[in-house]
Amino acid sequence: MKMATMVLLFAAASVVHAHPTHLENFETKPILADLNYLKALNIPVLAKDEESEVAYAVITPQMQQKIQENAHYVGKCGGFEDLSSQVSSLHAMDFDSLFAPFAEMKRKNDLYERAPFKALALENRADIQSAISEVNEENLKSYVQWLSSFPNRFNKGQTPNVHVEQMQQRLELMLGNSNLPHEVTLISHRSTPQKSIRVRLLGSEKPNEIVVLGGHLDSINQSWGGGTQAPGADDNASGSANLIEALRILMDKPQPRRTIEFFWYAGEESGLLGSAEIAASYKSEKKDVVAVLQLDMTLFPGSGEFVIGSMTDFTSAWLRDYLRALNETYIHATISEDKCGYGCSDHASWYKNGYPTLMPFEATMRKMNNNIHTVRDVISPTSNFAHSAMYSKIAVIFGMDLANSDARQP
Ligand code: BES
Ligand code: ZN
Repeated sequence: MKMATMVLLFAAASVVHAHPTHLENFETKPILADLNYLKALNIPVLAKDEESEVAYAVITPQMQQKIQENAHYVGKCGGFEDLSSQVSSLHAMDFDSLFAPFAEMKRKNDLYERAPFKALALENRADIQSAISEVNEENLKSYVQWLSSFPNRFNKGQTPNVHVEQMQQRLELMLGNSNLPHEVTLISHRSTPQKSIRVRLLGSEKPNEIVVLGGHLDSINQSWGGGTQAPGADDNASGSANLIEALRILMDKPQPRRTIEFFWYAGEESGLLGSAEIAASYKSEKKDVVAVLQLDMTLFPGSGEFVIGSMTDFTSAWLRDYLRALNETYIHATISEDKCGYGCSDHASWYKNGYPTLMPFEATMRKMNNNIHTVRDVISPTSNFAHSAMYSKIAVIFGMDLANSDARQP
């Protein structure tokens, strides 16, 4: 954005701030963020939930800049969740319902933490060992290469669905070789013209119990004057590729007892758009989603090869323990717990709708890839496909262990 327009926007903001009834993009912005983070930056908190440490604030462009500068410093990305599209006026804000999902999930997590018995490792199964050994780094590389070769996969770009349609065709072609009952669906959204893709592998015994394996397919260029090139190799061709590879392996295995649903979400970079609609509609249809795995950025081993950052906010204690257990038996990585500090990816959409979630990330936040959201997010000498392969293995284990069990959040 040019400097002159910035000055104008700042001026407009100070007028609007006195009467915050219109909350639009470049004026004041309603946000949700980490309570302690806002406090540390002296940003006035308008409402908060002390227990789950989530806070609501209305920020000026100046405050936004402060948050983003500091977010960068501590290794967070945006640093907050923009509620503009959900909130049309401050007076209409219903804080009880804004914080209710956080309180509910906090209660579930606390209950689980107090449970007397927890799994420390999974039973070691030869069929699962053999399936994870099928994860192929060359395949991952070719999927990431292909996805990052589109000029961008931006939901507000000129052609938001070109890559979506090609991806759908690729998946259908691949699934042509599968004997499992399956379905490929393009999902349209109200909030964006971009579509999400869902591949469903139907469960044999408990088709209504769903294990979700997902990641966002879109990309964005957020650098100032940076143009529209957004290869998004790490963010998030990598997680998208992990899911293709997991599907390739799972589609050849015996039919799972539970249904497995793969999602490649639309418009994540513009505010979790696709997943927000999908998770809300699943909740209103009372769908029984047992677990949600989110793969977003798996290619840059910032904290070291085979170090997984397991995000502890907007995720479930049960699934974080499940990750530790499956890691003990099958992956043998080092797991380092960390926080995004805000709803940083699509798992937050499911979490807010009451579903158990997990987000194993490429590194800890501080050590994340700094080239995301720029033209530099391409395959490079630091890209590590052996590291990335772990995340496909986690998805395969979700598909073969969790989707064949009776386990659910206690
Ligand atoms: N992949 C990022 C999220 C991320 C970045 C997680 C760094 C962990 C470390 C995701 O695609 C993203 O950019 N999310 C947005 C938030 C979203 C609500 C628009 C962000 O972090 O700014
Ligand atoms: Zn991103």
